[in-house]
Amino acid sequence: MDDTKFCLLVAAIDFGTSSSGCAFSFRHCYKEDPLDIHFIEKWMGDDDYHIFFSKKPPTCVLLNPQKEFLSFGYEAEQKYSELAFGSNHYDHYFFKEFKMVLHETRKLSRTIMIKDVKGKEVPALDLFAHVIRYLKDNLLSALESRKTSIIHRDIHWVLTVPDLWWKNSAKQFMREAAIKAGILTEYLTICLEPEAALTYCQRLPATAFIGNPGTQSFLSSSSETKFMIINLGGTTASININQKQSNGTFYELHIPTGGPWGGNKVNEALERMIIKIVGASCFQIFKDDHKTEYIEMQRRLEIKKGTVKPDSISKITIRISSIIHTLFKEETGENIKDVIQQMQLSKKITWLGDFLRIDSDLFKDLFREPVNMLVEHIQQLMTEDNLSDVSTLLMVGGFSESPIVLDAIMKAFPDKRVIVPEEARLAVLQGAVLFGHESDADLGSNPPGLL
Ligand SMILES: Nc1ncnc2c1ncn2[C@@H]1O[C@H](COP(=O)(O)OP(=O)(O)OP(=O)(O)O)[C@@H](O)[C@H]1O
Ligand SMILES: [Mg+2]
Repeated sequence: MDDTKFCLLVAAIDFGTSSSGCAFSFRHCYKEDPLDIHFIEKWMGDDDYHIFFSKKPPTCVLLNPQKEFLSFGYEAEQKYSELAFGSNHYDHYFFKEFKMVLHETRKLSRTIMIKDVKGKEVPALDLFAHVIRYLKDNLLSALESRKTSIIHRDIHWVLTVPDLWWKNSAKQFMREAAIKAGILTEYLTICLEPEAALTYCQRLPATAFIGNPGTQSFLSSSSETKFMIINLGGTTASININQKQSNGTFYELHIPTGGPWGGNKVNEALERMIIKIVGASCFQIFKDDHKTEYIEMQRRLEIKKGTVKPDSISKITIRISSIIHTLFKEETGENIKDVIQQMQLSKKITWLGDFLRIDSDLFKDLFREPVNMLVEHIQQLMTEDNLSDVSTLLMVGGFSESPIVLDAIMKAFPDKRVIVPEEARLAVLQGAVLFGHESDADLGSNPPGLL
């Protein structure tokens, strides 16, 4: 095959509900080692001991009063909370979890609007374009600082979209947003998230999975294997069910399915628990008027969420600014400590100063709702005629990295092979890079992005 017509680099953007990232690999490196994939990493913050870099920062966007882009990710969160500190945030626009518009709108068009956290609207297409442009420009400057001679036209871009009933509409919408962001349509491929996950996991050896992978790599065992791809993201759990064909292709056994059982349900459950103690109005004041402290609380929870194991017995400590004690005292005249005692929770929860300490079983309970709903949904699917013999459950997405979630799925389906790739939150992103290399030859035959 003539190699000259291929792009020199594939860059992928995984546009997630809660977090988004950009990864890339050079064509010459891919040929040597397909898994030699690089990321644009962003500094995230610290948990008082470590500084974290994140390969998928939160999908948050801050726009100025003229609806122009100001910042993305942690920076957007930070700037917005600084503006709020001086009460200067009211005329700005702050967006989070807005990718849900793809899940909620069957006929996506240029006129679809998205509301920010205060209910002010901007066109969805503009917002998606802002994120894509930001990630694209970040990659281009990273390449420039590495002194590569790569230019825009050397890059094959891949963008991910969820697999929905109205996937064509979602694909067209994303293509249009990418064009608006300055990506040329003939250099762009849109890839479904489960396609990307599958592409990645097929490349991995059995040792790269946790769960009960056995000794054989994913799907190499036998042809005709039926398997589920379960993508556990921030807000949704998406399930695809396929069968491997003898010619190596895949047959879709069921329409894409799933529900709102992503990892953010754990955060919501923790907030509900706090609200039970301090009341909705006190917590709302904390959220609205002390945004920096609220964002810090959320980041610390994100870190703790991943550390809890099914057999953890020690208490989980989450640092929450002691401002909340002052707010509570001002509002009720009482102390949080006394209320916890009155609620007979003092054996399970202690909350002194900046430290909220939660009994490990109570913390594990926060996972119960999304996990139970997911298990019930899979059990229901398994009762369908052609699905009872699905043998492999492949879990990807950030929430799959939780040992609590993996344990629950393995216990609920003891006779199935349950597997999770290492760094499951990056499976779709890395798979999208591989998907780009594999579809390089088709580049240029893409449809124009017309809505
Ligand atoms: N180690 C971990 N343990 C528990 N939860 C985790 C871990 N890592 C990430 N998560 C959770 O996973 C979720 C994010 O996953 P992911 O990045 O796959 O979502 P997304 O791609 O933004 O969402 P979607 O694919 O639904 O659009 C968050 O709720 C996050 O808290
Ligand atoms: Mg995702």
